[in-house]
Amino acid sequence: MDRILKHTIGYFMTRILAIANQKGGVGKTTTALNLGMALSQMQRRVLMVDLDPQGGLTVFMGLDPYHTERSSYSLLMYDGMTVTRAMRPFSTGLALIPGSIDLATAAVKIIQEQQPLDRLREVLRSSRINFDYILIDTPPSLDVMTAISLVAADEVIIPAQCHYLAMLGIRAIKDTIDRVRDGMRNPALKLRGVLPTMYDSQADYAQTVVDELRAVLPGQVFQTVIPYDVRVLDAPHRGRAVIEDAPNSPAALAYRALAEELLAD
Ligand SMILES: Nc1ncnc2c1ncn2[C@@H]1O[C@H](COP(=O)(O)OP(=O)(O)O)[C@@H](O)[C@H]1O
Ligand SMILES: [Mg+2]
Repeated sequence: MDRILKHTIGYFMTRILAIANQKGGVGKTTTALNLGMALSQMQRRVLMVDLDPQGGLTVFMGLDPYHTERSSYSLLMYDGMTVTRAMRPFSTGLALIPGSIDLATAAVKIIQEQQPLDRLREVLRSSRINFDYILIDTPPSLDVMTAISLVAADEVIIPAQCHYLAMLGIRAIKDTIDRVRDGMRNPALKLRGVLPTMYDSQADYAQTVVDELRAVLPGQVFQTVIPYDVRVLDAPHRGRAVIEDAPNSPAALAYRALAEELLAD
């Protein structure tokens, strides 16, 4: 009975997940893209939001962040803009609010005019009913856009490259999560998990890093580890995500396992 109830309620409960780590090149955008696609393949309705001025996720989805009229910028800046108007639907159940290069100016404006950081929170929460999962991709810094994303989110995923210094970066983003929880109107923000990425099974240190992460952050590291996989690098050249381009590659399998892990919550 409990399980049925959880399943039924779970289906109607939208989860807003920010994918954050101030370090660049750790797999944030790759995770937003492939996790989003994996969840949509599993019949979940997914909205991806690109909040990085560099627009990596937007490029991966075949759009141009230099020429996007309706985007996360317009969603943050124009009062009348709604999620439905700002988003581009792709296949059934998958949509993207593109990032745009203007997001950098939006950040400056928001600081100068001391605008509240909860606009994204308000607009996403008001259209919750339309999606099962909302994934926000954030820039490689702890700046305004990351703060806005953390204020909007229910949970955070921190991708961390399996390298020696992984822990240092995680400490900084964890401090930021604590600050958003305590002082920025999002006391319920939860660290859903650290996601080890680019795991190289040939390298001894990779397993050491994962073991250390699990020891330092008990219960806060995903079971799933994303392997290093050259097909992740190949896929965008074919205009696709690895999960579509090479669905049986190790990285694609891992991203589907990650989706299953979230669905089992
Ligand atoms: N599992 C992986 N295996 C191999 N390359 C990867 C993997 N994940 C990401 N990459 C590559 O690493 C680079 C940085 O990844 P990206 O997702 O853009 O990181 P971030 O968004 O954190 O800056 C990209 O070129 C991407 O294709
Ligand atoms: Mg990125």
